[in-house]
Order: sequence, then structure tokens, then C-alpha cells
Amino acid sequence: MKLWGGRFQKQTDAMVDDFHSSISFDWRLYRQDIAGSIAHATMLGEQGIIPQEDAQAICQGLKGILSDIEAGKVDFEIDAEDIHMNIEKLLTERIGQAGKRLHTGRSRNDQVALDMRMYCKDSIRQAVFELKKLCQCILDTAAQHLETIMPGYTHLQKAQPITLGHHLMAYFEMFKRDITRLQDCYDRVDVMPLGAGALAGTTYDLNRERVAQLLGFSAITANSLDAVSDRDFCIEFASCVSIGMMHLSRFCEELVLWSSNEFQFVEMDDGFSTGSSIMPQKKNPDVAELIRGKSGRVFGDLMALLTAMKGIPLAYNKDMQEDKENFFDARDTYIKCLQVFCGMFSTLRFNTDRMHAGAGGGFTNATDAADYLVKKGLPFREAHEVIGKIVFYCIEKGRAISELTLEEFRSFSPLFGEDVFEAVSLLTCVRERKVSGGPAPQSVKAHIDAARAWLDSL
Ligand code: ARG
Repeated sequence: MKLWGGRFQKQTDAMVDDFHSSISFDWRLYRQDIAGSIAHATMLGEQGIIPQEDAQAICQGLKGILSDIEAGKVDFEIDAEDIHMNIEKLLTERIGQAGKRLHTGRSRNDQVALDMRMYCKDSIRQAVFELKKLCQCILDTAAQHLETIMPGYTHLQKAQPITLGHHLMAYFEMFKRDITRLQDCYDRVDVMPLGAGALAGTTYDLNRERVAQLLGFSAITANSLDAVSDRDFCIEFASCVSIGMMHLSRFCEELVLWSSNEFQFVEMDDGFSTGSSIMPQKKNPDVAELIRGKSGRVFGDLMALLTAMKGIPLAYNKDMQEDKENFFDARDTYIKCLQVFCGMFSTLRFNTDRMHAGAGGGFTNATDAADYLVKKGLPFREAHEVIGKIVFYCIEKGRAISELTLEEFRSFSPLFGEDVFEAVSLLTCVRERKVSGGPAPQSVKAHIDAARAWLDSL
């Protein structure tokens, strides 16, 4: 007999039982569901809506069910449809009549909204925890590479010299925004929907604020229809996670490039690389590739959520049960990727000689050579042209700008002096970029100090 079987004359078709049941994936909401029910029952007892003894029996019973589930002693039933009805059924089997009073003034519609919000809050806390670990790791590594010169790129063409510390701190900023984005999202998730009932609230004198307080919510929902039909908090979480995956994916792409024989900027640890079944020499950056690949899967979760929600009328519709698998998948994938990425990143070996050599080729100091002439009084556009000619000359001769003789420099402009060699050295190029946010060691150091203070304040 179904919990809702009263008005039915026939059994549910076995195919439908299987089709609409969500217990195979929503079982993981059991902690939230039990905590929500304990708070609801406590409030019902306090308000005198159900007898205090029954409220106590319900809370005791639910705690027993929780420990049984955690001990692996519970087999959920497909017939009981979802986690909410499975637990209610277990409760009634356990404590009898009192269990049947739990659902007073509540619907599965506000119940599932509550569970998902609680689960989402928890997911945000876990994601932020992993992001903080990663940020810490990036800060520590960046601090060791304030003077590690490497080429900076635009269009994947060598552009200007930067440092590894500066490059890594760019990712720190992205991950910092990912943290604050999730924190902003948290505020909108942190709203308690119980009391909305199926859609139109309830006639019982519920104390919604009390339930919110018991469950650690900061506010209660303001409209019962919205409370049960809103899943934009799931979509917002999936958006935050998608952006986070996009950042991880870009970083992974760089590590794939950097670990190639052509770059040789990094060497991945054996523990985070894999081999080939046919080519004995291979050491592949599979972990980075897989994270890059999984970003597509998480974007898919976001699209699926948006699409499921876009055409459904108010209030609850069963379509909304489809929120869960995508939400869970986005959450699980992101948290796992953050953990694995952190392990991979913290075991990287940076080949700083190769990076320095890479910064030396490709005329990355051409802008600085032009700026040198500007400081000697030439308008920038003219300086640009002079250096362009020098670059062309160097390409023909197969030399770097810093390898020209003073006479050669002077054949392009009389403004060149002995100090040009110092001005176009890579270290000078970097050290002189001491604008705040720039690659100069002192600028990156200031950034790292501020970043540490921010991280510690979280
Ligand atoms: N398992 C359902 C879900 O996840 C719970 C809400 C069911 N409500 C209903 N009216 N059928 O959406």
C-alpha cells in the first residue's frame, strides 16, 4: 500500500514504479531529510499541533533510523518512491501511530525543497573548503617563484617576460572569485521553505522562524508558490561550479602544454601521470586532460537543469525531480576535480631553466627596448618602428636583441647607449613592471601578502 494509496483502486504499473521512483539517487539526502523532519516535528510539538510525546517519539525514531542508515542496515524500497517516503515509512514501522503525525502541515514539495537547499549549502561549504586548500597551495608555490622568469603569451605566441609566481597568482585570483561566487550563492540558498506546503501554505499555526533557527537558516521564503517551485539555487550552484570547472580546465590545458616535449616547463609526478600500453617512452598528463574533459560534463549538467526548468508552470511539477542527478553530478565532479587537481599541482616539478630559456627567445623584451627609446625622448610609435626593424634584423641574423653590439644598436638609432643592455635584460624587464598587479617580484609579493591575509580571514 502506497502512502498516498487512499484514492487509488489499482496498483501502480511496475514500469511506472520504476520510472518515477527517485530513491536510487535521492537516498543521499537522508541526513538532510531526517534533520528537516526532526526540526519540523520539534516545532509541531512546541506549537501544540501534535502531542509533545509524539514529537519526542518521532525525533527519537528518526535518530534511530539515521544511525541504522549510517550503519548500512537499511534497504530502501523502490515502491516507497523517494527518500522522503522511505524514511516516513521506516518511522511508522518503528514507532507506530505517532509516526503518522510527522507529515502534518507539510508536503513533499516543501520537504524536497528544504532537503535540496540544505544539501546545496553543504555542497558549497565543501567546495569552498577544497578551493581554500588549492589557493593555499598556489600561494606557497607562487611565493617560491617571484624571480622565476618565464615567457608570457598572447595568442600562444611569446609576448613579454613574466614570472611563474605572477602566472600562478593569476589562477589564484580566478579561484578566489570562485570562492566568493559560491559564498554569494550561499546567501540565496540559505532560505528555509517549509511552511509552503504543497503550494498554498497551510492552515496550521506553524512557527517557520523556529524551524529556520533549528536548521541554521538565515531567513524563510516569502512566497509559498515560489518556495516549492524554485530551483534557481541549484542552477546558480551549477553555474558557479561550471565557471570553477572552466578555470580548472584552462589551468589543466596549460599543464598539458607545459609538460609536452616542446615546452618542458613542468614535469608531472609519476603518481599523477599514466603510461601507454604500446609506447614505452610515454608519460601522459591524463589527469589534467580528464579534468579538462569533465568540465564539458559539468556544463552539460548546467544546461540540463536550465532546460528542465524553463517551460514548467507554477508550482511543483514532477519535472523538478530531474534536478537531482545533474546537481549531484556537478557537485561530485567539481569536488573530485578540485581534490585531484590539488594533488597534481602540489607534486609538479617546474623546470625553471627551460622557462627562463623560453623567455629569452621570441623577442619578449621588444616592448622594453621600445620603452627604452621612449625614455630617451622618442615618441612611442616611432620607437615601435625602430625596434620592429631591429627584430627583423635579428631574425635574419638568428640573434636575440640582447646579443647585438652597441654599434649595431646605433645603426638603428643614435639614442642607444651602453645602458641598453641592462634595459633589455629579462630580469630588468620584469623588475621594472612594478605597477600594482604587475609581474615585478615586489608587486607579486604584495599580491601574495594580501591574498594570504584574505585567505586567513575566511
Ligand atoms: N521525489 C520528489 C522530487 O524529488 C519529491 C517531491 C514529490 N512531490 C510530488 N508532488 N510528487 O521532486
